[in-house]
Amino acid sequence: MSTPETEPTAAPAPKSMDAIMALCKRRGFIYQASDIYGGINGFWDYGPLGAQLKKNLREAWWQDMIMNPAWGRKGPNGERVKCVPVETCIIQNPKVWEASGHLAGFADPMRKCPGCGHFVRADQYWDTIAQWSEWFTSLLQEFEPTMVDTKYPRIDSERLLRWAKGKGKRQAPNLAIVKNPEVTLSFLATRINGQPDAPPDLQEFVRYIGTEQLHATGLQEPCPRCGAPLATPAPFKLMFESYAGLTQTEDNKVYLRPETAQGIFVQFKNVTDSTRVKVPFGIGNTGKSFRNEITPRNLTFRSREFEQAELEFFCHPSESQDWYAFWRDFRMEWWKSIGLAGDNLILREHAKDELSHYSVGTSDVEYRFPFTAPGFGELEGIAHRGNYDLTQHQKHSGVKLEYNDTTRGELLPNGSRRGERYLPHCIEPAAGLDRGCLALICEGYTKDETRPSPEFLKLHPRIAPIKAAVFPLMDKDGLPEVAEKLYDELFAKFGRLGFIETDAKQSIGKRYARMDEAGCPFCFTIDQDTLTNQTVTMRDRDTGTQERMAIDQVSTFLASKLG
Ligand code: GAP
Repeated sequence: MSTPETEPTAAPAPKSMDAIMALCKRRGFIYQASDIYGGINGFWDYGPLGAQLKKNLREAWWQDMIMNPAWGRKGPNGERVKCVPVETCIIQNPKVWEASGHLAGFADPMRKCPGCGHFVRADQYWDTIAQWSEWFTSLLQEFEPTMVDTKYPRIDSERLLRWAKGKGKRQAPNLAIVKNPEVTLSFLATRINGQPDAPPDLQEFVRYIGTEQLHATGLQEPCPRCGAPLATPAPFKLMFESYAGLTQTEDNKVYLRPETAQGIFVQFKNVTDSTRVKVPFGIGNTGKSFRNEITPRNLTFRSREFEQAELEFFCHPSESQDWYAFWRDFRMEWWKSIGLAGDNLILREHAKDELSHYSVGTSDVEYRFPFTAPGFGELEGIAHRGNYDLTQHQKHSGVKLEYNDTTRGELLPNGSRRGERYLPHCIEPAAGLDRGCLALICEGYTKDETRPSPEFLKLHPRIAPIKAAVFPLMDKDGLPEVAEKLYDELFAKFGRLGFIETDAKQSIGKRYARMDEAGCPFCFTIDQDTLTNQTVTMRDRDTGTQERMAIDQVSTFLASKLG
């Protein structure tokens, strides 16, 4: 099996996440949930354009993974790939989560600060310390803007001492620099100010403070927020809990699913009993999943409520490696086909020590988000799960989940097969639709000051929420009527795929700019010439170029582009 891992090339300057977030809100892609109440951490809503973008992504997945899996290709067994859908509940019998291992194991190690009550993820402690550097620097700068130069940090001992003995006592009473300012400052002064030729960077500066803090707290790691020594790690459960029924007792406790996959495994038997599917085949499931993430961040990238699109592909154990390679390669191709092609997308095969104990292989499709650059963030995982899940559910439910494969087993004198009973192995391409949308928005976001629309979104026409716009050049001379007729035609043909817009207000440049920001790939303009020669102007969002085409060719042109 070859490893098609792509070597990441030199990263271009990351795009501004602030600008992307501003565009998302301004144009109605993504809003904070409960925005008018100040939002709620880890929850996001989609506005009109975002909701349609996500629907288009979900439908592209549904079409290419379930209705016409892998674009009609043949699998490693030489036959067309077959898949069927299910739609399973968010709340399941709690025994499902016991069997899957989520109840016992789906937890992150957390450390609580006894000083301020802040929680820190134990395995992200040193990342948190990097954030601490920002907090600490801003704290100092708020008090005395010139005290710390963030580019070449220098300590002005006298001022810092004044801060430590005054405001610092209130703001961060547990910091070593506040508790024991003279000793800490002399340490910092020699280590930082003593190197005039090679001033340390901010990370180094903070590491010094962190080191000194460790001494001050008796070699225990300090809270990144207030400096008190953190408690030892304890597991923090990631599943949201609720109660089903009248009494809120342990007996009625239920969980919001943390993944859609388990709904598939527990319906495996019903699907094989009630349909004519035969192994190898896949079952797809899309829907909301919930994880009480400790540090939700980066817009929808890590949220507490998110949508997954998962396929469990069941196959004979002897074919599982080939199917793993098949899905891994197809999923990478698929993300490229909807606009994530280029250096920002890689396929990363997990090292042996990263794999779960039951997995023989996992690859991640990763995207270089502006906030992960120059690194990458996971978009989708493709895992070879062996028969772990079916084994667990068979054991915990007591129901036989073995598949009787009549194409295998001993050949009988009458030419048929005796059949082989086995628990199929499973290949799981598990994608996140919110991360998918975010990657498409980040990839599409383009800044070009030379254009009348300096910010625009290069969304693939298949995914773009607005498919086309029809504009009369002027709101008079019969042009709106012709535009209306073309709009009606396009709406009838393509309205089920996304918005078709029309607008007669403002200058044509402003109307193009609005469509560019919304990611609309094509605008068609009706002008005086249309009345005489039945042609319109087609303006291309990405190049800004315009070409004339016959008005009766517009829908054929659009159909060829929308894929
Ligand atoms: N059934 C396997 C499974 O759930 P996962 O890697 O935990 O695997 C699959 O999740 C995908 O779901 C991820 O690649 C990611 O795109 C998305 N995802 C997971 N946690 C998420 C979160 N907190 N916020 C947004 N998306 C998330």
